[in-house]
Amino acid sequence: MPNLGLIGIQWGDEGKGKIVDLLSEYSDVVVRFQGGANAGHTIVADGRKIILHLIPSGILREGKYCVIGNGVVFDPEIFIKEISELKELGYLQDDSRLLVSGAAHLIMPYHKKLDILRETKSKEKIGTTGRGIGPAYEDKMGRSGIRVIDLFNEEVFREKVKRNLELKNFIIREYYGEEGFNLDEILEVYGSYRAVLKKYVNDTVTFLLNCISEGKSVLFEGAQGTNLDIDHGTYPYVTSSNTVAGNIMSGSGVPPSAIHRIVGVCKAYTTRVGEGPFPTELKDETGDTMRERGAEYGATTGRPRRCGWFDAVAAKRAIQINGISNLCLTKLDVLDEFEEIKICTKYRLGDKLYEVPPIDTYTYEKCLPVYEKVKGWKVNTKGIREYGELPEEARSYIERLEKILGVKISIISTGPDRESTIVRDRFFE
Ligand code: GDP
Ligand code: IMO
Ligand code: MG
Repeated sequence: MPNLGLIGIQWGDEGKGKIVDLLSEYSDVVVRFQGGANAGHTIVADGRKIILHLIPSGILREGKYCVIGNGVVFDPEIFIKEISELKELGYLQDDSRLLVSGAAHLIMPYHKKLDILRETKSKEKIGTTGRGIGPAYEDKMGRSGIRVIDLFNEEVFREKVKRNLELKNFIIREYYGEEGFNLDEILEVYGSYRAVLKKYVNDTVTFLLNCISEGKSVLFEGAQGTNLDIDHGTYPYVTSSNTVAGNIMSGSGVPPSAIHRIVGVCKAYTTRVGEGPFPTELKDETGDTMRERGAEYGATTGRPRRCGWFDAVAAKRAIQINGISNLCLTKLDVLDEFEEIKICTKYRLGDKLYEVPPIDTYTYEKCLPVYEKVKGWKVNTKGIREYGELPEEARSYIERLEKILGVKISIISTGPDRESTIVRDRFFE
């Protein structure tokens, strides 16, 4: 398989976990390059549902290497919990196939606390996952962050935590009026992670460069989605990393020339968790039906996801930014019940029509969708594996999306499990 980047082109939860699990059969290595345990990637395999937050979705495939790259913000507590859950289920018998970059930044307890305090105590709520992602990336960019490798130098680690606590405790106590953190307690808890983590921590850049020069195939697993990107998303209602394909290189250390193709994942409709613009949102029965049929509740926080029709304006921009050559369209079966299906092809604000999303979020929030309507199919498509077996109206919907987006829809997912998949074009071989 060529080296692929797999990117969500909506607001996250597009079904990346399922598609990565599927494609990892054909790759040697799967890499997470940004984000952290804010991700919730669901895989339904061997009759079980598994949600991964930090470990790449290739981990269920025996013999595949999984890498947590330098661009990830790494929560050791969640990592260790995930490993033990996987082992209990009989996966990950060989620890040598899981690697964590020593250069990844650590999520510390004060990051999580500050994330939650900001969300609960300020008027401007983002609706974060509360996993400490924003505060950890701030420290990384502010050059005061603590990296995984620092954990293994006790003196350095102690000094860095001490220095960080001076400011963090000041903010937590004086600004928020809450209890701060104790240095020794943090050192004890993080010290206990040292022995467990040691065997996984590595120079993942050298590992990946070697894999590439040996001709192994690498699959880069995006987290979140393009519209949550810190630069290209609906700022400030975004996550704190670059989620776009351009960040694969910085977040993993491979050169641009090593990536052969970028694949996009999107749902047959749109969802979003947390605050921020969402022109096609349906705050009515139709939206409720989508939520119930699609089981649209957050894989990380359990929050109900906001649901709406397919937003081709936002998707088209995401396709351009990422250089998507092939799309995977998931959750087609969720639309089975609808009489009529809508595609948003433009936004409207007063007399003005928008072909691309406005940069200004406050304008974006006021935009209304301009819809094109297609006929629903009202037939059960769940589990269909051949394109020709889809009802004609479903094929028309897919082909209309292809035409609007200008990209081939190569994979169609008709259910959460591996088997419920239509492959129209084996671009991954
Ligand atoms: P990710 O974050 O992009 O990996 O997506 P999530 O795992 O957060 O959310 C996708 C949800 O949709 C999960 O519960 C999947 O099991 C489920 N799913 C994926 N593909 C399909 C599909 O084709 N049909 C249905 N009904 N569910 C799907
Ligand atoms: P996966 O990888 C959907 C959203 C949060 C919030 C915003 C900022 O499963 O697609 P953060 O905790 O990152 O600071 O929250 O981003 N968000 C996601 N939404 N899927 C995700 O990941 C998300 N990760 C973060 O809901 O609006
Ligand atoms: Mg998710």
